[in-house]
Amino acid sequence: MAKPILVANWKNNPGSKAETLALLKELSKKREIYKKINLFIAPPYIYFDLVSSKISFAKLASQDFPRLKGIITGETASEMLKSFGVRLAIVGHSERRALGETDAEVAEKAKAALKSGVTPLICVGEKERDEEGNYFDFLRNQIKSSFAGLSRQAAASVILAYEPVWAIGKGAKDAIAPGDLCQTIIFIRKVLSDLFGRNAAESIKILYGGSVEPMNAGELMRESNIAGFLVGHASLKPKSFEQIALSLAKIVR
Ligand code: PGA
Repeated sequence: MAKPILVANWKNNPGSKAETLALLKELSKKREIYKKINLFIAPPYIYFDLVSSKISFAKLASQDFPRLKGIITGETASEMLKSFGVRLAIVGHSERRALGETDAEVAEKAKAALKSGVTPLICVGEKERDEEGNYFDFLRNQIKSSFAGLSRQAAASVILAYEPVWAIGKGAKDAIAPGDLCQTIIFIRKVLSDLFGRNAAESIKILYGGSVEPMNAGELMRESNIAGFLVGHASLKPKSFEQIALSLAKIVR
């Protein structure tokens, strides 16, 4: 049985080295809970050294993956991520897509990550929902082009994060309803199956992200066939994060 996956997306937080150390100290007090799940922490690159030495209860993840090779001022190289033991890379987060990242670039980053032995966590999600259900077409196209060029075998080892943009950075009451999540996950699985065949589609793990908080984590997990969560703001609050981890640890699939 695979352990549920929890990915902490710290984004460009905490605001200082001292706050990062304080957060790590609080998280490590609950190490026994975190060991029960498959926890990844994705800090800003600048804190990699600090974080990697203090998270025996979690694995290090990156918030992006370099697409280009060569000498580039201001960039981080894939070898550097590997040298810190990065195992998972978030690619195509909606906040990066909002800065102009295209589906084609997301697909290239996913391929680059796989080539380096790093699991890509490809993020997809509609900006809004309409009554006519046009967002299903949007999702299908976004998945198709963000997974473009991946073989069945490569696709099977990708993790997909479904993060509806309208639900990000709010509160549990504004997140997706469990029934709607369940329906969307079935749709995503069908799209993956059309693209890569049923076997590969079934091995692609799907996470949900977008205002996951202690209040909605258990229900979202129970009511839909997801493998875990990608958590933003609640991952910076030790008490909330611990409760989310606890509700995942209780799930037996
Ligand atoms: P949130 O962010 O949990 O703050 O909604 C999730 C994300 O952006 O990955």
